[in-house]
Amino acid sequence: RRFYRGESYSNLLACMDRGMTAEEENRWTFEVAWEAANKVGGIYTVVRSKTLVSTEELGDQYCLIGPYKEHSARTEVEEGPLATDSLNKAVDSLRQRGFKVRTGRWLVDGNPQIILMDIGSAAWKLDEFKSELWNKTNIGVPHLDIEANDAIILGYMVADFLAEFKNIAEELGDGVPARVLAHFHEWQAGVGLIVLRMRHVNVATVFTTHATLLGRYLCAGSIDFYNNLDKFNVDEEAGKRQIYHRYCMERAAAHLTHCFTTVSEITGFEAEHLLRRKPDVITPNGLNVKKFSALHEFQNLHAVSKEKIHEFVRGHFYGHYDFDLDKTLYFFIAGRYEFGNKGADVFIEALARLNHYLKSTHPDITVVAFMIFPAKTNNFNVESLRGHAVTKSLRDTIGDIQNKIGKRMYEICLSGRLPDGDVLLQKEELIRLKRCIFSLQREGLPPVTTHNVVDDWNDPVLNSIRRCNLFNTTHDRVKVVFHPEFLSTTNPLFGLDYEEFVRGCHLGVFPSYYEPWGYTPAECTVMGIPSITTNLSGFGCFMQEHIADPMSYGIYIVDRRYIALEDSIKQLAQYMYDFARLNRRQRIIQRNRTERLSDLLDWRNLGVYYRQARLKALHKVYPDYKEEMENGIGTLRYPRPLSEPPSPSSSRVTTPAASVHGSDDESDSVDEEGELEELRRQ
Ligand code: UDP
Ligand code: G6P
Ligand code: GLC
Repeated sequence: RRFYRGESYSNLLACMDRGMTAEEENRWTFEVAWEAANKVGGIYTVVRSKTLVSTEELGDQYCLIGPYKEHSARTEVEEGPLATDSLNKAVDSLRQRGFKVRTGRWLVDGNPQIILMDIGSAAWKLDEFKSELWNKTNIGVPHLDIEANDAIILGYMVADFLAEFKNIAEELGDGVPARVLAHFHEWQAGVGLIVLRMRHVNVATVFTTHATLLGRYLCAGSIDFYNNLDKFNVDEEAGKRQIYHRYCMERAAAHLTHCFTTVSEITGFEAEHLLRRKPDVITPNGLNVKKFSALHEFQNLHAVSKEKIHEFVRGHFYGHYDFDLDKTLYFFIAGRYEFGNKGADVFIEALARLNHYLKSTHPDITVVAFMIFPAKTNNFNVESLRGHAVTKSLRDTIGDIQNKIGKRMYEICLSGRLPDGDVLLQKEELIRLKRCIFSLQREGLPPVTTHNVVDDWNDPVLNSIRRCNLFNTTHDRVKVVFHPEFLSTTNPLFGLDYEEFVRGCHLGVFPSYYEPWGYTPAECTVMGIPSITTNLSGFGCFMQEHIADPMSYGIYIVDRRYIALEDSIKQLAQYMYDFARLNRRQRIIQRNRTERLSDLLDWRNLGVYYRQARLKALHKVYPDYKEEMENGIGTLRYPRPLSEPPSPSSSRVTTPAASVHGSDDESDSVDEEGELEELRRQ
């Protein structure tokens, strides 16, 4: 069953005739992830965005478990005891064994309970844990692999806790048998599952893989991955990459779990070959979609954030600021720095072509392409900081002069006269302005990166930019800015966090080669920002399945699966070129359509797959458990919008020069009404 805008999730769950609540059933759900209250990448987004629907459904019978990371715990978690005796008692028993365990509530929507295991406090038991693992599973973990060692410690702490908790919940259950389900995410959390199964603890388990280790590694090399999936010698490949032990943990967890899930069909296909188990359920990733009471508030937010990006651009391109911001578009790519997997290589190549297309046909349009990938740096570079300092100084000087002019004007007008121009702006003020203008001159070109990148000459983004000659010259219609750090509000150049930045941009470009799901385009969608994805990303395939004509909804899907690399690059360049030629009205209409897809990505709809997975596992472990399975969301076909696709359709198959331009009407007051009017006009 599906839920739509404005409906209360708990009300709907109550109407679903689901029988007894989790509390009445003595049913408990734990979600274990290395990224619980510990931001690394997309798995953090999965657990964080899902907390609202999980707590609405399960209340205090739901609890997250992760590693204790002081920095994030201090800002994200409010420490305190857990809500029930059973949970607190189980934590106490762990503490009595000498382990440090923190408990409290994660300060995110739904305010879920969270248990954070202090890995260091159990490190003295590492050898004991490792020898048990070796004796029972033959998985031997090298001493130097700290990440894998930490995963083992976390796993043992979690397994000890859950085994203890199961007994306590049974005792305190007033005769109602305790049903405990633990959902483990990714190989780092998988050891807990392995240990539970090794020790025959009667807890139902779900294991979700968000990517396979081997898949990620293989794709990072130059391998034709998808056409050879059935041919890899998995043990050998893992061995060659020195990840055999990690691979074994992942594979063991996938095989030992009662219910195995992947985040997309494509990762399911990969898991079938590389982990040798097909997923039982596909659990696509959702988001906590928040609707504004004013339907088009997101459009206003776009305009507000875009103004802040304009300010950055003025500073960054000072001295070369000869383009019209009203005809400038902001494209961006962002994510963990996996150059090839995230498609940064293809993006930069396609930008070079876009530069050429625009130079030869639309020299009035400028595209600024931002690349946001955290790399090793020695802070911001002087040129970037200087740009922002000189524009700030100009702004301050103008503000000061404006103030003085105002006062003078006031005095003169009070005396009944009209002020003369030369009295208003005095000579000394003109000199101050001239000085500012002189300091706006620069010798070199605006830098392609905002930071001093540590390994500059080997950095893949910088090398591609050099190879493609994207040097931000005056003639370039595509300008590039590599920002090798994630964004935050304290960033002195942008002063924007990632969400605000996305809102201010026009198009997110994510031409990934390896992307089990891909939150970045999904996040763009719920913010009403069009994006480019690929048919190798879980998200792209999901959208293709549910939307009749994704492009007209602002979801451009590049084919990276069935055509040659060169053709994918051309297709991407063409999509960006088509987008660049939309007029403002068309962009506004397209943003409205993009935002309409939010429901499709809402956990209120997609949460059903998590419930299915949990039920499958519960049925296996507790055969008397009678709850019935709900249906999934099926294949929703978002129909083709009634109006024409907003991009200049003739250009899709022709060369840029031959294409016909769309309407030049730049009116920006388009809303639902406006869109209807547009329909009538067509
Ligand atoms: N992200 C961020 N700041 C940035 C860029 C990305 O916080 O500057 C977040 C983004 O919001 C998303 C996550 O990083 O939730 C990346 O998840 P995705 O699934 O796209 O990729 P992963 O890193 O898991 O491979
Ligand atoms: C939003 C605002 C409009 C603004 C427009 C700019 O829709 O509500 O007032 O004109 O954004 O759109 P653009 O695509 O040119 O950034
Ligand atoms: C992984 C994948 C990414 C996915 C995320 C959350 O890190 O690389 O594609 O979105 O997990 O499932």
